[in-house]
Amino acid sequence: MSTTATMEVFMTKTKTLDDNVSEQVRLEDQHETVIHAMGGKPLFAPVDLSRPGLKVLDSGCANGRWLKDLQAASSAEHEYVGTDVVESLYPKPPPKNTQFFDQSIKESWPKEWARTFDVIHQKLVMAAALPEQNTSSVVNSFAGLLAPAGWLQMVEVDTEPLVNNGKAQNQYIEMLDTLYNKLGYGKSRIFADLPSEMEKAGLINVEKKDVLVKYGAAVKDDEDIGVKSLRTAVAGVPNFLSVLKAMPDAWREEWDDLQERLKQELAERGGQMKYIVCWGQKPSP
Ligand SMILES: C[S@@+](CC[C@H](N)C(=O)[O-])C[C@H]1O[C@@H](n2cnc3c(N)ncnc32)[C@H](O)[C@@H]1O
Repeated sequence: MSTTATMEVFMTKTKTLDDNVSEQVRLEDQHETVIHAMGGKPLFAPVDLSRPGLKVLDSGCANGRWLKDLQAASSAEHEYVGTDVVESLYPKPPPKNTQFFDQSIKESWPKEWARTFDVIHQKLVMAAALPEQNTSSVVNSFAGLLAPAGWLQMVEVDTEPLVNNGKAQNQYIEMLDTLYNKLGYGKSRIFADLPSEMEKAGLINVEKKDVLVKYGAAVKDDEDIGVKSLRTAVAGVPNFLSVLKAMPDAWREEWDDLQERLKQELAERGGQMKYIVCWGQKPSP
């Protein structure tokens, strides 16, 4: 099959399985796991959320959970916009001050949205842009949507194997790295470039923070997150493998039983994955 259909394999699988019901659980678990590792803070960019009337966009928002968390963290009222390509994921009715729109990051954005957003957020969506778009084109589009002094924050996985991990967790990380690599970039750890891509797009005050996300038995401070982190990591494996299986010359024998081995390893000793949180600001004229 051609690489252009690749992440659609993943999305068709989750839709056909049970109309995205288990995918919703996986995404909620994943969101809570990552936000826990971020110290409960949905936004690292230094935005004054007490200033009312900010316009906030979450791209690839799924069920709008990040928007809901940001609303809960804000002491003032803001306008929230969520965009995705799977309409059935949006909560109905939408939460207060929130609107959802179908919008792919592979397509151009509505012209009237240019220079209007004070905050743009996107978490774990970049892989869906490949291979038609890359980090550079997506970041450039967001830079065009930001109002002067507005902030962009992006969160992605940095697929660096970690020395403290067991074999299955590092094979899982390598599997993700192979997937991104095959989807078009031909290189490892593609999202480690986010800070330089933001700078190239003209953003200033660019900063990044590496966040170590813990899974299963490695989560020592919250039993609920321990359960959810294991569940989300294990549930994602067949979906990613289905994409790799559909690609020529991608399959590795060790992935045949990866899901079971990962489940056991995360339950017994836990595991970690490095995430990159990167933010930058649109200059004021
Ligand atoms: C891994 S989920 C992340 C969801 C959410 N951002 C979070 O962190 O919980 C990826 C999301 O990207 C959406 N997506 C897939 N392809 C997309 C595209 N071309 N444009 C925008 N969103 C897309 C999916 O429907 C899904 O909601």
